Amino acid sequence: MEAQPDISQKDLNRLRDFIFKETGIFYESKKDSYIVTRVRQRMVETGCDTFQKYFHNLLFESRDGELLSFIEELTVNETYFFRDFPQLQGFAEEVLPFYLKRKRISKDHTLKVWSAACSSGEEPYTLSIIFQEMIEDFELWDVRIDATDIDRRVLRQARLGLYGERAMKDTPIPYRAKYFQKTPDGWKVLPGVTKYVSFEQLNLVDRSAMRRRRGYDFIFCRNVLIYFNDSSRKRVVSALYDALLPGGYIFLGHSESVGRITAAFILERMGNFLCYRKPC
Ligand SMILES: C[S@@+](CC[C@H](N)C(=O)[O-])C[C@H]1O[C@@H](n2cnc3c(N)ncnc32)[C@H](O)[C@@H]1O
Repeated sequence: MEAQPDISQKDLNRLRDFIFKETGIFYESKKDSYIVTRVRQRMVETGCDTFQKYFHNLLFESRDGELLSFIEELTVNETYFFRDFPQLQGFAEEVLPFYLKRKRISKDHTLKVWSAACSSGEEPYTLSIIFQEMIEDFELWDVRIDATDIDRRVLRQARLGLYGERAMKDTPIPYRAKYFQKTPDGWKVLPGVTKYVSFEQLNLVDRSAMRRRRGYDFIFCRNVLIYFNDSSRKRVVSALYDALLPGGYIFLGHSESVGRITAAFILERMGNFLCYRKPC
């Protein structure tokens, strides 16, 4: 059996601080073994025999180098089509018609949506399907769905648009035939869905990248802020607020809330769910 490289508690603390600074993801000390397993894996893959050498790489290699590979090892990318169906139903049946009515009155037929932390693409593709199903004059609208994630690996999967049964488990049967093609390798999302979605790598705590995002009607930032702490959540939520149009909505995961972080949004009840609207 090969000896495992030594990683002291001091090393781990430095590493945890570094991960937090770079990604906003906050690991409590009970997650130490999770981090250690992943560092050891990266040390083997990069041929570093000491933690110090590996940490030096992390700090000083190009931003696109080891840092991103290490982050890819750490992130939790769990997702599937129509995740949190009741929330999406509330969005589709209550928020969307109300919102589009207002846009029609002002003769604005653009719809700009952001799936921030989109993982392998199931969320933005779900939104594309929802818009096609729910907007009766869909062809009159200029719809654009921007989908971003820190993890390049999942973005490659997202662009491929090919999924296994697990990703499809909550997809209504009629939509399977209408928006996907069953292939021997899995379910392929049809071009009629993918053409509204564009993927880009983006770190939610990168201030300058976040400043460039503006003018969104809806932002979905679901199931990522749970990995952050209050200070990184605050920073991200404030940047998302700035990215929204006045009157625009932000949707979070069902265990996430911005109530504790900011009073800037108007809280609205949507069926069993709460959603947050930027004041007009
Ligand atoms: C659990 S998935 C959520 C996917 C989808 N939003 C959903 O709810 O099904 C969380 C995603 O957040 C991404 N993530 C974590 N930290 C991030 C950061 N600082 N910037 C951008 N994306 C991040 C991860 O790479 C992962 O793909």
